[in-house]
Amino acid sequence: MKTACIEEIKDWLRENLTAEKYVHSLGTAEAAREIAKICGGDIEKAYFAGLIHDCAKSLPLDEMLLLIKEFGIELECGEENNVKILHAPAGAALAAKIFGVDDEEVLSAIRWHTLGQVEMSQLEKIIFLADKIEPETRGRECYLNRIKTVSEPCGLERNILDCYSYTIKSLVDRKLVICQKTIEIYNHLLKKCTI
Ligand SMILES: [Fe+2]
Ligand SMILES: [Fe+2]
Repeated sequence: MKTACIEEIKDWLRENLTAEKYVHSLGTAEAAREIAKICGGDIEKAYFAGLIHDCAKSLPLDEMLLLIKEFGIELECGEENNVKILHAPAGAALAAKIFGVDDEEVLSAIRWHTLGQVEMSQLEKIIFLADKIEPETRGRECYLNRIKTVSEPCGLERNILDCYSYTIKSLVDRKLVICQKTIEIYNHLLKKCTI
């Protein structure tokens, strides 16, 4: 199966996502491109992965679970019943199924854009951060402030560390469970950024 082109993917996303999520997808693609430029990453691949990272966002839970099963994707603790994060593994499966994406790097960046993992590839880091700071729905001022810091030493990792700090603080404030893996990723990034 031939991989779908950018315009075909945009048409599909426009029809299948809410207007807000469609704009967020465009913003994430733009942000991913900028971050890749700064970090010396693959600019086109970053844009492509950013564009499709939320492709499964509007699927009902049962369809997400079917796709995940069909593609044999293993779930992490806490993912099974959490529709907010399940769209990431479901998205990797959907991207392969309907857009013919066979680039493992891209599929992995989609799969891990919500939870992250301890050893992330550069593309995984780019998509993880782009999703959190994109200018269209997260605020342009915040985006510009963040993007400035990506070029600093360990800038990509420091920005991702800030995302985890924010998430952990928010979970503590709301007295919610923090996954073991989230803490592991936080500790790993902290060590990397403070060496
Ligand atoms: Fe997402
Ligand atoms: Fe997103």
